[in-house]
Order: sequence, then structure tokens, then C-alpha cells
Amino acid sequence: MNEEITFLLFLVVISTGLVKGTCPSTCSCSSGSSGSNVNCYSKNLGHIPDLPSDTYIIDLSYISNNQISAIPVNTFVDCELLQTIYLHNNKISAIEPFTFMNLHNLRYLSVYNNKIRSLESNMFINMTNLTQLYLHYNKIRLLESYAFINMTNLYYINLSGNNISHIEENAFGNLTSLSTL
Ligand SMILES: *[C@@H]1O[C@H](CO)[C@@H](O)[C@H](O)[C@H]1NC(C)=O
Ligand SMILES: *[C@@H]1O[C@H](CO)[C@@H](O)[C@H](O)[C@H]1NC(C)=O
Ligand SMILES: *[C@@H]1O[C@H](CO)[C@@H](O)[C@H](O)[C@H]1NC(C)=O
Ligand SMILES: *[C@@H]1O[C@H](CO)[C@@H](O)[C@H](O)[C@H]1NC(C)=O
Ligand SMILES: *[C@@H]1O[C@H](CO)[C@@H](O)[C@H](O)[C@H]1NC(C)=O
Ligand SMILES: *[C@@H]1O[C@H](CO)[C@@H](O)[C@H](O)[C@H]1NC(C)=O
Repeated sequence: MNEEITFLLFLVVISTGLVKGTCPSTCSCSSGSSGSNVNCYSKNLGHIPDLPSDTYIIDLSYISNNQISAIPVNTFVDCELLQTIYLHNNKISAIEPFTFMNLHNLRYLSVYNNKIRSLESNMFINMTNLTQLYLHYNKIRLLESYAFINMTNLYYINLSGNNISHIEENAFGNLTSLSTL
């Protein structure tokens, strides 16, 4: 085999190995020093597509009502650089505990105007870098204990437009930065 071709093949193998997954076909992506900014805004998606592993911003929101109804628990498992997730204006009814477990860099999570019914224990446990959490206009009735435990940098939560009738003990443990609720 020609040396040049061997070298090109080598480069292709290396570069596909570095970033797992490519830009989802219906979305647009731009890369910068922080990773990929993946824009799937208003694409009428029915589910969350596979994301490049260097995604740091993902926009899956919609202008009015999108069709995404679930966040499979391993959706973000390879995306440890994620800082910002927009999932508002969808039809998500539940978020499993540990969905965001490995997202140590996550700062901004927007899931308002969905159909989330409860916030279970440990849903956001130890997400110490999260600063803003948008949960308004859901169907939340229950905040289990430890739902928001140890989110020490969280300063903004919006829970308005829910129907919260029960808050278990320790739901808001150690929220030392909280200023707006
Ligand atoms: C918070 O984010 C910074 C910067 O991305 C990172 O170095 C740090 O490990 C994160 N903190 C935790 C507790 O994961
Ligand atoms: C949360 O953080 C504490 C202290 O760093 C650690 O002991 C505990 O195992 C963590 N819990 C989870 C579920 O990561
Ligand atoms: C909260 O953080 C403190 C100090 O890091 C730790 O001792 C405690 O186990 C954490 N709580 C939970 C429920 O992870
Ligand atoms: C929460 O969001 C609603 C709807 O956008 C807004 O009207 C309200 O002012 C917000 N609450 C806080 C405390 O920011
Ligand atoms: C809120 O919840 C209570 C029961 O906890 C129920 O009686 C009421 O109809 C609910 N309101 C709305 C607007 O869903
Ligand atoms: C809150 O933080 C303190 C000190 O970091 C820790 O001792 C305590 O266990 C935490 N409380 C809970 C309910 O995790």
C-alpha cells in the first residue's frame, strides 16, 4: 500500500477514535475549545439523538411543544463535558435518578414545560457545579428527600407552575448558595 494512503487511513482512525459519535444528522454543530455546541432546537425530534462525546452545550428545546418524552438513563453517560442542557417544551414525564450523575461540569439545566411528576431522591445528588435549574410548568407534586442534596453552587431554582403538595425532609439539604426559589 502507498505510504500516503496508509498515513491518511491512520489519521482517519485516530480522529474518529478521539470523538465518539458525530453531529446528529438533523442538528447543527459547531466546535470550539470547550467542545461541540450541538443545536437541535425546534427539530421536532421524537427522541434524544446520539451525541458527540465532546458535547458541552445541547439544545433539544422547541419553540412550542416538542415530542421528546423520555431521557434514557444512559443518554449523557459519554458526555462528561456537558455544561448546558436545554430540554424545555417537550413531553418528558420522568427523570430517572442518576441520569445526570457523571455530569460534573453541568451548570445549567432547563427542563421547564414538560410533564415531570416528581423529583426523586438523589436525582441531582452532589451536582456541585450546577448553578441554575429550571423546573417550572411541570406536574411535580412530590419532592423526595435528598432531591437537591449538596448542590452547593445552586443559586437559582424555579418550581413555579407545579402542584407541589408534599416536600420530604432534607429535600433541600445543604443548598448553601441558593438565593432564588
Ligand atoms: C466543577 O467544574 C470544574 C471546571 O469544569 C471542574 O474542574 C470540577 O472538577 C467540577 N467539580 C466537581 C465537584 O466535579
Ligand atoms: C456525594 O458526595 C459525598 C462527599 O463527597 C460522597 O461521600 C458520596 O458518596 C457522594 N454521593 C454520590 C451518590 O455520589
Ligand atoms: C453531602 O456532602 C457532605 C460533605 O461533602 C457529605 O458528608 C455528605 O455525605 C453528602 N450527602 C449526601 C447525601 O451525599
Ligand atoms: C419562574 O418562571 C416563571 C415563568 O417564566 C416566571 O414568571 C417567574 O417569575 C419565575 N420565578 C422566579 C422566582 O424567577
Ligand atoms: C393539585 O393537587 C391536589 C392534590 O394534592 C389536587 O386536589 C388538585 O386538583 C391539584 N391541582 C391541579 C391544578 O392539578
Ligand atoms: C451537609 O454538609 C455537612 C458539611 O459538609 C455534612 O456534614 C452533612 O452531612 C451534610 N448534610 C447532609 C444531609 O448531607
